[in-house]
Amino acid sequence: MPTVAVVGTQWGDEGKGKITDLLASRADVVARYQGGNNAGHTVKVGGDIFKLHLIPSGILYRGTTCVIGNGVVVDPAVLIQEMDSLAQKGIDVSGLRISGNAHVIMPYHRLLDKLEEEMRGGGKIGTTALGIGPVYTDKIARNGIRIIDILDREAFSDRLDAVLKLKNAVLQKVYGVEGFTKEQIMEEYLPYAERIRDYVADCSILVNDAIDRGKNVLFEGAQGTLLDVDHGTYPYVTSSWPTAGGIAAGLGIGPTKINKVIGVAKAYTTRVGAGPFPTELSGPVCNTIRERGQEYGTTTGRPRRCGWFDSVIVRYAVRVNGLSGLAIMHLDTLAGFEKVKICTAYRCDGKVIRDFPTNLRVLAGCEPVYEELDGWPEGSCAVKRFEDLPGAARAYLARISELTGAPVAIVSVGRGREETLILEEPFS
Ligand code: IMP
Repeated sequence: MPTVAVVGTQWGDEGKGKITDLLASRADVVARYQGGNNAGHTVKVGGDIFKLHLIPSGILYRGTTCVIGNGVVVDPAVLIQEMDSLAQKGIDVSGLRISGNAHVIMPYHRLLDKLEEEMRGGGKIGTTALGIGPVYTDKIARNGIRIIDILDREAFSDRLDAVLKLKNAVLQKVYGVEGFTKEQIMEEYLPYAERIRDYVADCSILVNDAIDRGKNVLFEGAQGTLLDVDHGTYPYVTSSWPTAGGIAAGLGIGPTKINKVIGVAKAYTTRVGAGPFPTELSGPVCNTIRERGQEYGTTTGRPRRCGWFDSVIVRYAVRVNGLSGLAIMHLDTLAGFEKVKICTAYRCDGKVIRDFPTNLRVLAGCEPVYEELDGWPEGSCAVKRFEDLPGAARAYLARISELTGAPVAIVSVGRGREETLILEEPFS
């Protein structure tokens, strides 16, 4: 049985939640490998809408083991809240497993996220202000606190003695705000630790065992390729590795264990937060896409910036993730335009470039080179078979595949689970 990864090919919010949910129905284990509650997955099941930030979408299927890997950062209050709200809706969360090595978001991480953004002034990254950057910074600087640390009162107390000195010095001397006391943090976090204790496991053993026993394992990516701290539009990125390269380190498996990688892309492009966006639109076309596609952040509610499909970006994602196939989302959202556009290359300083430039100043100066294609009528995507899509929509998808160099494996034509056309079954 293969293992399948689902990653974002653009700036996040591509609709990975729906595809992971779909593939989770065939999976025995669903594992997240990076990011934290900055992610937001919306899954529609029947009349219910589930908004998940931390727990893998596989939780909606009874009997699925859902792993929060060591590469994920965990805000325990958010995790517990999510577990409780799922339980209230009758969802069994007993299959949840959390890596003891995952780092924990502390109150000073959230505060520092806000203070650092304020200090950046006009150069704001537009973070979710949930403490993601500061917790990963501490992890790399070896000032972090892991789940296993908070489970052990003495270890927790020792870690806080070591770390709070540094954190409070920065908060007080750099930002002129009050710091935190050890007692205050322990009083809040020790009860969290008790709530999650039974779910903590060695997730590297768990995932490797499942793979060795031939189980279907799904790796659930959060954010997207262009938000990757190494491969994204730095510094307008998140602080982890959403690309397929992050899976091995974020779960404790070898890269040889990843069989297929599905890249999720919208039939257009969106972005939240700051930073260059070559195909960004304004005016009525942008508003139509935003309203039809309900392009507002799941985590922050911010309106998303919208633009035409950028094949330069997705071709880049095909390369850095080694994509086996694409899942194209929101084909229905684009229905109703007489003409649609695809960006095939960028024009920069009088030259046409086809490869995504990693230099932000170059990217900011890039003009999209567009190809115009026929649109397809509103309502025409409500079909059960790919062959029944209008010819123009099929031609659009074929052109995406040709320009990006990856086959289209899945097409989404609506929000519901059943509004999905599968051209190539990933778990086969
Ligand atoms: P952070 O992850 O909160 O540090 O935010 C860094 C950047 O990543 C900001 O531009 C955020 O808007 C963006 N970002 C983080 N998570 C997501 C996501 O799940 N979808 C889209 N953008 C995200």
